[in-house]
Amino acid sequence: VFSRSAVASPVGASSLATPALAPLTILFGTQTGTAETLAKKAAKEAGKRGFAPIIFDLAQTDLAKLAQEKNVLIITSTYGDGEPPDTVKALHTALKSEISNLKSPMCTALSAVRYSVCALGDTNYAQFCQCGKDLDTWLGQLGATRTTPRTDCDLDYDAPFTAWLDQALAALGSAPVGASSLATGSPEVTTKVAPTHEEITYTKQNPFPASVLTVRHLNGPGSGKEVNHVEFSLAGSGLTYEAGDALGVLPQNCPQLVADILSLLGCDGEEAVPTPGGELPLRRALTECYDLGKPTPELLALLAGVPVTGAGAPPPRETSAPHHVIDVLLAAPAKPVPADFIAKLKKLQPRLYSISSSPRAHPGQVHLTVGAVRYDRDGRPRKGVCSTFLAERGLAAGKVGVFVHANKSFRPPAAPDLPMIMVGPGTGIAPFRAFLEERRATGAKGRNWLFFGDQKASADFLYREELLGLQESGVLTRLDLAFSRDQAEKIYVQHRMLENAAELYAWLEAGAHFYVCGDASRMAKDVDLALHQVIEKAAGKSPDQAAAYVQALKSAKRYQRDVY
Ligand code: 2AM
Repeated sequence: VFSRSAVASPVGASSLATPALAPLTILFGTQTGTAETLAKKAAKEAGKRGFAPIIFDLAQTDLAKLAQEKNVLIITSTYGDGEPPDTVKALHTALKSEISNLKSPMCTALSAVRYSVCALGDTNYAQFCQCGKDLDTWLGQLGATRTTPRTDCDLDYDAPFTAWLDQALAALGSAPVGASSLATGSPEVTTKVAPTHEEITYTKQNPFPASVLTVRHLNGPGSGKEVNHVEFSLAGSGLTYEAGDALGVLPQNCPQLVADILSLLGCDGEEAVPTPGGELPLRRALTECYDLGKPTPELLALLAGVPVTGAGAPPPRETSAPHHVIDVLLAAPAKPVPADFIAKLKKLQPRLYSISSSPRAHPGQVHLTVGAVRYDRDGRPRKGVCSTFLAERGLAAGKVGVFVHANKSFRPPAAPDLPMIMVGPGTGIAPFRAFLEERRATGAKGRNWLFFGDQKASADFLYREELLGLQESGVLTRLDLAFSRDQAEKIYVQHRMLENAAELYAWLEAGAHFYVCGDASRMAKDVDLALHQVIEKAAGKSPDQAAAYVQALKSAKRYQRDVY
């Protein structure tokens, strides 16, 4: 069973558990902390319902430990392109290889385990909740008993999580009759949940209206990209952050898109509609409250089922599968009533961006580096909601709702003398600007190496003057650049890593921390592969030995990623 040591920071430690209480192990897999926060909520609720809960990071788990558990709740996010969080990789791989050998003794060993999985994800990604799905499937295949079906949560996870927890605890079933926490009010069994952060006044639920100080275009003429440097004032908020954290930003939908939707609905926008925050005019509700991106299945069903009014109604327009809410309206045979329509929309969610400033370098401010997402589809210009909101209307909006999202697993080395190697092409530069500013502000003596890449040196060398200045002053020890479209063949950051394999390996041997930020679907995978190749090449290691070396870096938290 898991070691219940102080290091493992169990919540509701064994001393609180009397033999009468049902054991419950809550395992979380997280990249940014959400699953951990939910695990703590689950522990608190479980404590009220007669369980003796303990919480562990899935990183601390292996098959042998799992096999000794009775009651297990798993809360895990999915990361990047359907991948497990870094901390769950080892277990994910172990389970995967275990199921390829279903006759193994583990299959019977897990048969005493009862479990339920809550998967966290984002329906904007194709591999929605894949890590949770994998763990759920594989534990079942290995003989464990699933007591409640898995719940897959989208970004708006509060309600489905609570519903899942309620069912999962009921099914694991040691709740004394009538002992619902709601009914008892003050439970007899209390679980001490130690707050990990100071109380923050402004949160996701209650964001701070921050003044937008600057929106500055970072690309030069001839660029194929649009990246903006955005500065907010945190004055008066009491909000604090660390280099490596993210900022949540509440966007507003494009006024033109809202106008187009209103006209398809045959509305003028003044119609009052019910929203979670109370009644609002339809235009404002569509601008501020609802996601007009990928349509929900409920919206598709509603609009497919709307009866055709009148004999002359036009046939549905020929388009590809509806990409956005407006596409469904364009293809719908008839107009829905506004209240029915918005009832089928998802809540507009805040977007998280890696912070690109150090609070020590810019007291009272927070900076972002935001790539504007724009493309055409079915003859219609499409825009990333938050990136273009900031680009086009950030300054005009005056105040924008923000909150700090701590990212404890992405930090410069605690020891100021340790070297850092940072790989951050494109907007992946963001946290590394913060790391470098931080090291300059604190006078940390460790060496710093940045790999930056983008399309063209002349137009896309983001923060060129700042980076050259940091190099000049000796804070940035090495700067290796990869401009992919300045020559016939593609040159990417990973090529620069391989060219410098010996020195990169020497830095790792000197204790360097290795960081990657940016595109998850291709870049981060290719950089990971290059890191293995660097180690093989420079140290003469076999692929297996290199993999073990990388695994050791991860376990020591010296390989940290912030990829999206
Ligand atoms: P490209 O657009 O010319 O393909 C930042 O976006 C930089 O990352 C660009 O130079 C982009 O090159 C590059 N990039 C694209 N795919 C990549 C990959 N798989 N690995 C590393 N860099 C990549």
